[in-house]
Amino acid sequence: MSQSSAAYVEGAVDYSTKIPNNVGLANDARVLKALEQWHPGYIDWWNTMGPEGFQTADVYLRTAVSIDPKGWAQFGYVKMPEYRWGVLLAPQDQQRQVNFGASRGEAAWQDVPGEHRASLRRLIVIQGDTEPASVEQQRHLGKTAPSLYDMRNLFQINVEEGRHLWAMVYLLHKYFGRDGREEADGLLQRRSGDPDKPRMLGAFNEATPDWLSLFMFTFFTDRDGKMQLESLAQSGFDPMSRTCRFMLTEEAHHMFVGETGVGRVIERTCEAMKAAGIEDPYDINKVRALGVIDLPTIQKKANLHFSLSLDLFGSEVSTNAANFYNAGLKGRFMETKIEDDHALTTSTYPVLKLVDGQIRMVDEPALTALNMRLRDDYVKDCQGGVNRWNKVFEKYGVKFQLTLPSVAFNRAIGQFGDIEASPEGKQLSQTEWMRLRDQWLPSKDDGAFIDSLMLPCWERGKYANWIAPPKAGIDSKPGDFEYVKIEEA
Ligand SMILES: [Fe+2]
Ligand SMILES: [Fe+2]
Repeated sequence: MSQSSAAYVEGAVDYSTKIPNNVGLANDARVLKALEQWHPGYIDWWNTMGPEGFQTADVYLRTAVSIDPKGWAQFGYVKMPEYRWGVLLAPQDQQRQVNFGASRGEAAWQDVPGEHRASLRRLIVIQGDTEPASVEQQRHLGKTAPSLYDMRNLFQINVEEGRHLWAMVYLLHKYFGRDGREEADGLLQRRSGDPDKPRMLGAFNEATPDWLSLFMFTFFTDRDGKMQLESLAQSGFDPMSRTCRFMLTEEAHHMFVGETGVGRVIERTCEAMKAAGIEDPYDINKVRALGVIDLPTIQKKANLHFSLSLDLFGSEVSTNAANFYNAGLKGRFMETKIEDDHALTTSTYPVLKLVDGQIRMVDEPALTALNMRLRDDYVKDCQGGVNRWNKVFEKYGVKFQLTLPSVAFNRAIGQFGDIEASPEGKQLSQTEWMRLRDQWLPSKDDGAFIDSLMLPCWERGKYANWIAPPKAGIDSKPGDFEYVKIEEA
């Protein structure tokens, strides 16, 4: 750390303990000891389940050295197992209150209210479980990175998801005693995709087979993470709120990687089509012959990752969600900016439901419709990114638009979990679905084609043929910067 950044006042991170933190661990012997005991298991997990084949490489990573919104990141070469994963909470606001639910108006809780202990623990464990899961899903991708820039971004996301695990584990150890310890151990034992001990949520047990999947995952699934963190950041349990607020600053980069990643794939395909004089985006064989990913396949990948991510919001109508809200534990997106009574005991919210076999909008009590509401906010957020992708087609004069499929398409959870529907939301029989599925979701052939493009491109400043270079380097570095120093075996 340079002198100037070491001179921070508020929000500075204490590096004197094994676990960097801004929560006073040096004066909290019990929690420090618990975390130090958890640490070797974490490193063991990282070494066996983290990025495969790059644990000794020097990676140009950012590390949080402060929680100051303007200057929390420090960039430098780090070997990933030596990354300083820390416990970082956003600053405490002494005036903060519980802003919704039955306890609205009370001072925000600095400890866990006894009656909400089980619910809170569950929320923390579910959030915590997603963090290591994504690292496991992405562990093999370094080997096929399309550039050192992209490889570095992948590893940055991976170490930060590791830090998010630390964030949740800190809450478990600090506030939940023996149960918390057991849950923290469990977070290191489950494995993405393992039939015997899977991760808790569906999307986090799916494979991330290639880089287009990674970009779609970080666009769609990390964005679910953002929405969940936003609503947990509203929590009346103040340490949870502060933890999530700082996590959100890191999450923004993950979604940036997703949005710009897909954008660069689109850009490269359009550019190659234009150069080759191909006007019909559906002339898939011709486009693929150029060594770029055809646009209909990009749409299929978006369909898949969007629908998997929608499942993460749970059932549209949910008494759990109502209870979490009423208890002041999990709020709405932008809760404090919404103008209503923040109790929701009398209001309604429109929910898309399956009624007599028809997809219809039905008013439900707002309290039980909170998952639906958060999902609606999520869909709006996704649409913004899709609109920005669509500008690229306009720029190149390519007649194509990406769209988000209907929320009834390819769902496993909620109102549409038991039916099949087209991307337009038309209900289909099982037979129709089986016949048409490969038009809408990546087929084996699509997967094999994308796979054939996934060849490493690790020369400084070079990019694989199927993806355009980024507009700017990380930390203002020049185009040929060596973001990862790969040791020759
Ligand atoms: Fe995360
Ligand atoms: Fe993330």
